[in-house]
Amino acid sequence: MDTKVWRITEKLESGDVAGQALQEAAGMLRAGQLVAFPTETVYGLGADARNTEAVERIFAAKGRPSDNPLIVHIADVGQLEGLVLPFGEIERKLMNRFWPGPLTLVLPVRPGAVSPRVTAGLDTVAVRMPAHKAALRLIAAAECPVAAPSANRSGRPSPTLADHVAEDLGGRIEGLVDGGPTGVGLESTVVEVSADGMIHVLRPGGVTAEELKEIGPVAALEPEMAGSAADSEPEYKLQAGLSSAAFSAARRGSDVCSDAQRAGDGQNDNKPAQSAPRSPGMKYTHYAPRGAMRLVKGEPEAVRVRIQEEVDAARRRGRTTGVLAYTEHAAQYRADAVLVCGSLARLETAAQGLYAVLREFDERGVQEIWAEACPEEGIGLALMNRLVKAAGHRIIEV
Ligand code: TXA
Ligand code: MG
Repeated sequence: MDTKVWRITEKLESGDVAGQALQEAAGMLRAGQLVAFPTETVYGLGADARNTEAVERIFAAKGRPSDNPLIVHIADVGQLEGLVLPFGEIERKLMNRFWPGPLTLVLPVRPGAVSPRVTAGLDTVAVRMPAHKAALRLIAAAECPVAAPSANRSGRPSPTLADHVAEDLGGRIEGLVDGGPTGVGLESTVVEVSADGMIHVLRPGGVTAEELKEIGPVAALEPEMAGSAADSEPEYKLQAGLSSAAFSAARRGSDVCSDAQRAGDGQNDNKPAQSAPRSPGMKYTHYAPRGAMRLVKGEPEAVRVRIQEEVDAARRRGRTTGVLAYTEHAAQYRADAVLVCGSLARLETAAQGLYAVLREFDERGVQEIWAEACPEEGIGLALMNRLVKAAGHRIIEV
């Protein structure tokens, strides 16, 4: 199939041309077709969340495991009512503070509101409102909730440019809205709020833990979200003996989502509830370049020495080598490809640049990559989470 591409980067402000393109793209979504579009985090691959056939095509186009649920994108809080059951005060405050923006909230799904393929049979749905003009206009014009995972082939780094989408999905989807580079560069923060009002970060991202703490208490991050070697467990630890329904009920309590509502929905009765992971997507290898990557943590000078030693040894073995470094350190390294994702002093620039740089290692045929770790503060937490995953949890502590 041909993928229709609309370039709207410069025309966004002037309105009409972009408006027509987005109307056409919205029509495709309504017709059950797949359209990739920019958001402030990464490009998403959109489909009408109510249309099971369309949603199934997302999984096929991406090669994504079907037990990994999708985020539903909305353009207006008014869309929430048809999508989810009543939720708590903290969730409301989070929406008021961070929407539109890179925060995804896991909420109790209204039975039948979206295809069960979107929720992968969970009794919750992940919802977000992107802070991106074209995305909001597209979703509003489509007049439906839009399910959209990142628009990459499963296992590849998420796309931060329309070219990345075309590389991975060209010819496999009907439409691609090219709105230029995305902003944050990493995916949204996914959170779920428990009955006691505690905010649980299921995936660190564009909204930092520090920012979340302004709204309510934030639970300690699950060890596998962060980057310590002691926790370099490649598979997500399953919640043995706790079904997802029981887990959700324990988190929210019956005041915000009554047992009667729950019993009445019936749709989760037959699902394989045992051992369902909290955020199913976290168990898969993500964001990985094709070359073998290792993440090196420690004092800057020790990190520099160790990386150069590793690179030199690999070069003697005839391997093509790469170093992923920050602006401040790049000149220190000798390797086949020394690539800079951004500045240590401004980690948001490193977040913006990470995925494009991982793809560039692939383009250059780099077989072995060593990456410098960064402090796990602010956006650094999300950055380290993606680096650990890109490295397949291979962490060298020096
Ligand atoms: O920034 C983003 O979030 C991007 C843009 C396109 O919006 N989207 C994105 O979607 O990253 P995706 O599908 O690649 O990641 C969705 C994440 C996965 O880790 C998934 O397991 C989790 O959200 N998720 C989805 N529904 C969930 C649910 N009901 N409960 C817990 N986690 C859920
Ligand atoms: Mg993804």
